[in-house]
Amino acid sequence: MTAVPPPSHASFPIPGDVLDLLFLDARSSTRWSDRPVSSETLRAVHELVRWAPSANNSSPLRLVVAESEHAREIVMEHANPGNRLKLDRAPLILVAASDPRYHEHLEVTAPGRPGLYEVLESRPDARAITAHDSAWLQIGFLIVALRAAGLEVRPMAGFDHGGLCRALLGDRAWYPELILAVGYPAEDGDHGAGERHGRPDWDATTLEL
Ligand SMILES: Cc1cc2nc3c(=O)[nH]c(=O)nc-3n(C[C@H](O)[C@H](O)[C@H](O)COP(=O)(O)O)c2cc1C
Repeated sequence: MTAVPPPSHASFPIPGDVLDLLFLDARSSTRWSDRPVSSETLRAVHELVRWAPSANNSSPLRLVVAESEHAREIVMEHANPGNRLKLDRAPLILVAASDPRYHEHLEVTAPGRPGLYEVLESRPDARAITAHDSAWLQIGFLIVALRAAGLEVRPMAGFDHGGLCRALLGDRAWYPELILAVGYPAEDGDHGAGERHGRPDWDATTLEL
């Protein structure tokens, strides 16, 4: 059952239940099944996400899979108190990060561009902006791809970004942008996200000029 007024499913060349799964029924869950999320599933999700568009194909999204108890504890320690229980309940914790040194991968993302590495190396501020902006776009794709795998995701920006960066990533240049608590739907059907709030509609959010 869709909790929000459905758009005309007829407008889309994919089945209506897929639209429900990806968009209309998907919630930012805080409760999940105990079923583990396999690394094969995560790799399959990543295989979709890495084709997301990004500025100059920079592809700056990086993922930290907090698998060990130690890594989970570091993430939880740096989360806002209100987020800790939700993280503790999640079968899988991901940290979505941006990599301002995305130009280390130019041989893949922009082959045959001599001199581009040196240009980008000399512009750390511009790289940080590009990395941040395009990583966020890719994070949107990541959430949808996780949903496509039948998973439910709670994104969380409430954490000490600098502290988590130092404790989890050490010398790596990556910057943690968002924590994602991930798992399969709870068997009892309670996603834990409560009553769904509305969203501004077409008239409130669109200018037709
Ligand atoms: C960028 C971002 C930051 C968020 N930060 C938090 C957070 O720190 N803690 C939390 O419990 N939920 C957080 N949320 C979850 C939102 O509150 C939730 O996605 C929103 O209310 C919509 O809920 P729904 O998807 O169930 O309709 C965040 C979501 C996003 C996209």
